[in-house]
Amino acid sequence: MSAAIIDGKAAAQALRDRIADEVGRFRSATRRAPGLAVVLVGEDPASAVYVRSKGKATIAAGMESFEHRLPADTSEEHLLALVEKLNHDPTVDGILVQLPLPAQIDESAIILAIDPDKDVDGFHPVNAGRLATGLPGFVPCTPLGCLKLLQAALGDLRGKEAVVVGRSNIVGKPMALLLLGADCTVTLAHSRTRDLPEVVRRADIVVAAVGRPGLVRGEWIKPGAAVIDVGINRTEGGLTGDVDYPAASAVAGAITPVPGGVGPMTIACLIRNTLVAAARRDG
Ligand code: GUN
Repeated sequence: MSAAIIDGKAAAQALRDRIADEVGRFRSATRRAPGLAVVLVGEDPASAVYVRSKGKATIAAGMESFEHRLPADTSEEHLLALVEKLNHDPTVDGILVQLPLPAQIDESAIILAIDPDKDVDGFHPVNAGRLATGLPGFVPCTPLGCLKLLQAALGDLRGKEAVVVGRSNIVGKPMALLLLGADCTVTLAHSRTRDLPEVVRRADIVVAAVGRPGLVRGEWIKPGAAVIDVGINRTEGGLTGDVDYPAASAVAGAITPVPGGVGPMTIACLIRNTLVAAARRDG
């Protein structure tokens, strides 16, 4: 039996359509549009593609998009000054500084400088702490998108065994906390996990976010499990995820493709977070 394909593109479009309707109501009520500022430092081609997609989605939702493109040799001081300016700009509800940043800039210094109430990426330690303690705040877009896909595919997640592979601040850690918040029994596995195949084998839900093409093998998947593949790896064969898709899709109950799975949901959730930021400031 082969897995149901979780169509992230369709789910993302549905979410973006809902947000666009809400933006229309927000604009009528407040006489202004929510605004998202996106900052790109340097010319990394993958980052440039993401930033362009984010800008397009922002405008399509009826919001204002402010793009700031800075040269690769921008100093940390200069970027901090821009962030400070955006923090105080009343037309800007959300601020996103595209990562990775060039080596001369300390990423954590930049993240710390963003006003937590405009931190639509959910990377600021204040928002990470809010998520960890169950307080309202901004949740990173990729794990939020994964949670929404899982809820749409499975309904109630209560009591399910979830294994997250990868412990990054951007995906793995917040994903584990979100699944815990949905009453899953959560294991956060990583590169030093002993016997990773055995750990993954007990999962009803597998989220792979390690950045290693095909690391999660088909024979590790419990029959019927839901598999969410966050990996976007550029290989000679094109874009591939962290899951061996052909083998895993023969065993899983549901699986996200790469591309067309998690990626579109990340952008839809960014749009959602921006509307939430605007509504909190001006609702
Ligand atoms: N680089 C890769 N993914 C992301 C993301 O979600 N936000 C930011 N700011 N940078 C990224």
